[in-house]
Amino acid sequence: MAKGEKNYKPGNILISEDEIRARAAEIGKKVSEDFAGEEILVVGILKGAVMWMSDVIKNISLPLRVDFMAVSSYGASTKSSGVVRILKDLDNSIEGKNILLVEDIVDSGTTLNYLREVLLHRGPKALRICALLDKPSGRCVPIRVDYVGFTVEDVFIVGYGLDVNQRYRNLPYITSVEEE
Ligand code: IMP
Ligand code: MG
Repeated sequence: MAKGEKNYKPGNILISEDEIRARAAEIGKKVSEDFAGEEILVVGILKGAVMWMSDVIKNISLPLRVDFMAVSSYGASTKSSGVVRILKDLDNSIEGKNILLVEDIVDSGTTLNYLREVLLHRGPKALRICALLDKPSGRCVPIRVDYVGFTVEDVFIVGYGLDVNQRYRNLPYITSVEEE
């Protein structure tokens, strides 16, 4: 562990796997209705969105492709640095395409606001945003999230793709963390 890094462990289960799966089904259905008759490109933000994205796309009944972006906005800490860097970009052009951007959690809004600007610049036909979690208490930059899984309080969350210091992404539920 790096110097100065704190140790965290999972706390209380906040959202169960069953609840997440059920919500993914509702959102997948809504996306299918909203984009009816169209093809979509689902863009997952690595690494946190992977588990949630896989649940959502299983419930979308449209022709779709997937792609991924990786960005970094946090170091080894639980507070945003406010700086976004693209670590991995999309494989193909998105010009004229319907994009569903899938993120794990919206906190300050910095990451999604930045990605939205970058992607809109590339001329998609439509761009919608889906996030597993919304933490409105952290918001610094206003951002419209079209499909929100769950709204959470001002607590740091891990599990279902979300990490603290790259750990606990594999937990099949959403939980708070506590300092050890
Ligand atoms: P934002 O740019 O402040 O909206 O933060 C978005 C990113 O911060 C997410 O993609 C997460 O990687 C990370 N993040 C924000 N809050 C949490 C949390 O409670 N648990 C784990 N990661 C978080
Ligand atoms: Mg993330």
